[in-house]
Amino acid sequence: MTDYIEAADINELIGLGPMPPVVNPYPIYKKLRDEMPVLETKSSAETSISGNERSVMLSRYEDIKEVLKNNDLFSSGINNRTMGLVMGETIVGMDGKQHLKHRTLVTPSMTTRALKGGEFPDEIRAIADSFIDKFIDDGACDIHHQFCYSYPLSVFVSILGLSSDDVKEFHDTSKDLCLVAKDMEKGVAASVWLENYLMPVVKEKRANPGDDMISVLVTSEVNGEKLTDIEVVSFLRLLTLAGAETTNHLLGTSFVAMLRDPELMDRVRNDRSLVPALLNEAMRWEAPISTIMRENLEECEIAGIKVPAKTAILCHLGSANRDERQFEDPDTFNIDRPDNDPLPFGYGPHYCAGSHLAKLEAEIGVNALLDRLDNIKAQPGEEFNVIGFSFRGPDRVPVTFDKIA
Ligand code: HEM
Repeated sequence: MTDYIEAADINELIGLGPMPPVVNPYPIYKKLRDEMPVLETKSSAETSISGNERSVMLSRYEDIKEVLKNNDLFSSGINNRTMGLVMGETIVGMDGKQHLKHRTLVTPSMTTRALKGGEFPDEIRAIADSFIDKFIDDGACDIHHQFCYSYPLSVFVSILGLSSDDVKEFHDTSKDLCLVAKDMEKGVAASVWLENYLMPVVKEKRANPGDDMISVLVTSEVNGEKLTDIEVVSFLRLLTLAGAETTNHLLGTSFVAMLRDPELMDRVRNDRSLVPALLNEAMRWEAPISTIMRENLEECEIAGIKVPAKTAILCHLGSANRDERQFEDPDTFNIDRPDNDPLPFGYGPHYCAGSHLAKLEAEIGVNALLDRLDNIKAQPGEEFNVIGFSFRGPDRVPVTFDKIA
C-alpha cells in the first residue's frame, strides 16, 4: 500500500522525481500564484543536467500561455539537453524552422484517420475489450493496474505494427526512460534497448511500407527531405513515453472523479455525449503532464519580474489549470464549466501532436468500461488518490462492479 503524503514543500517536491506519492500539492501552487508567480527554485535534477545556473517555476495560467506561445524567446532546446540524453534529439527540443520541418514530417503519422486504413477505432475498442475480458468475471479489479496502465501502450504497440507479446517489456522500458534525472544508467539502458528493438523494424518498414505509423513516418516527405532512421527511432522513443505515461493517467483520473461522485458516473453512463467534457475536465483538474520546460534566450520580464537570460523555466501546467484568475472554483471537478480551456496539451507550436489520438483512445476506454461494467464502486476500506508532481495520475483504483451480460 502506498504511503501517501498530503503535501510537501515546493523545493522538496521538485526534488522528489516525477511521481512522488503527494496527494494535494495545490494549496502550495495557489500560494505561489498569489505571492510568487515567478518562483526562483533551488536547482532541480533536470537543471543540474541542463547546465542552467538559474531556474524558476511559473504557476499562473496567462504567464505560462505567453511563454509557450513565444518559442523564439522561450526556447525548447533545454529539453534536448535533459530528456534528450536518453531520447536523442527530438521534436520537443527543437525550435523555429527545424521544429516546423519535423512537425510537418511527423504530423501525418498522428492522423488517426490515416492509420490502419480507417479501421483504427474498431481496433482500439477490441484492445480495450481484451483487457476487460481478463477480469470481467471476477466482479472486482484495479482499474489502474488491470486497464489504464497497459491499454494505451497496447494501442500504441498496435499502431506501430509491433507484436503484442512485447507490450510488457515495452512498458517497463518506457517507464525507465523517465529516470534520466534520477538514474541516468537505467535511463540510458532503456534507450539503448528501444533503439536495438526499433532500428531493425524501421529498416524493414522502409523497405516494405504498410499502413502502420512507422511506415507513415519513413515515407513522409517535405521538400524532398525525409526523416533518417535514427530520427524515426528517436521520435518513436519519445512516443513510447508520450503514449504510455499520459493517457493512462487521464483514464485513471476520470474514474477517480466518477467514483467520488456517483451521480456524475450515472450521468456520464446514461449520456455518453458527456465523455469528452469528462475527459477535458479530468485533464484540467489533474494535468497528466504537469510540468514542461523552456529557457529564455534573452533577459525578459514575466509577471513584472526580471528573468535573466538562460534561465530554466518550469511551466507548471497543473497549477495553471487551477488558476482562479482563469477558472471559477478551480478545485471543484465540474464537467459543465463554460469555456473550459485548460492547458493539458501545452500551447503554441509544441501543442501535443498526439492529442487527437489520446482523446480517441481515452474516449473508447471510458465507453468500453461503462458499456461492460455496471455499479462500479470503490472497494470498501481501500484508499486511492491522484498523486505526483511532474506527472499526475492515480497509482491504484480498486473497484467492485456487476458484469453487464
Ligand atoms: C492525455 C494524454 C497526453 C497529454 C496530457 C500530453 C501532453 C503533452 C504536452 C503538455 C506536450 C507539450 C510539450 C512541450 O510543449 O514541451 C506534448 C507534446 C507532444 N505529445 Fe503529447 N500528450 C498526451 C498524449 C500523447 C500521445 C498519445 C502522443 C502520441 C502517441 C503524444 C505525442 C506528442 C508529441 C509528438 C509531442 C511533441 C510536439 C512538438 O514538440 O511539436 N502525446 N504532449
